[in-house]
Amino acid sequence: MSQDTNYDTFAEAYSAENETSLLNAFYERPATLQLAGDVRNRRILDAGCGSGALAKALVDRGAAVTGFDASHAMVSLAKDRLGETTDLVVADLGQPLPFDDNAFDDVVASLVFHYLEDWAGPLREVRRVLRPGGRLIMSVNHPILFPWNNPGTDYFKPTRYSDEFVFNGKPAVLTYWHRPLHAMTDAFTSAGFHIEAISEPPYAADTPPELIPSPLKERDSFLSFIFFVLRKN
Ligand SMILES: C[S@@+](CC[C@H](N)C(=O)[O-])C[C@H]1O[C@@H](n2cnc3c(N)ncnc32)[C@H](O)[C@@H]1O
Repeated sequence: MSQDTNYDTFAEAYSAENETSLLNAFYERPATLQLAGDVRNRRILDAGCGSGALAKALVDRGAAVTGFDASHAMVSLAKDRLGETTDLVVADLGQPLPFDDNAFDDVVASLVFHYLEDWAGPLREVRRVLRPGGRLIMSVNHPILFPWNNPGTDYFKPTRYSDEFVFNGKPAVLTYWHRPLHAMTDAFTSAGFHIEAISEPPYAADTPPELIPSPLKERDSFLSFIFFVLRKN
């Protein structure tokens, strides 16, 4: 089934926020880059690439990057950022992907799988386009977030929920699927991935202090997203 993305309606505001925010610029992106390690000469597919900040960082580190996103506006912003360095297309992670079998050494999927109800089809497609031994490096909302923020809800029940945000001054609503940790790991192993790492990293050491909310200042971990490194069996 095709998935909706409403990012078209707030693409520029989200992109501007993503550029400098604690959650993206000083937490999610550095953590993903650290998990990816040395990417020189690796062929990397950025699934749900948004406006291309991660893709640009990977290109700058010597990777050959292809990206796709379901939002036309996001792909257009990514094209503005990346020019000819990167092949960028509109495509839906919930549908067959327009890429050849075994085409990539890595797939990165930052903060996109949590929009999908079904992970089996997307993981099958990601596995198909990875070469044998290739990696899927992904981040999603941490499964503790939904029950933590919504007391009385059932951690074990996959649940669709929405959160309200303000991106660079513009209100936006994002709708996610919560699922418990075992549902994530079961989906990975059923799809033919070996789980190499599950990570709950801290925000980056160079985070400007004024971005860190005071209750977090003494912590060396940051509970918001969970990261996985998966290898195609
Ligand atoms: C939170 S943003 C993350 C963007 C980028 N990965 C990053 O971390 O900067 C989520 C992105 O996923 C895209 N998206 C949502 N559902 C999608 C789907 N089914 N297929 C492809 N992209 C999707 C949205 O359009 C949006 O650009």
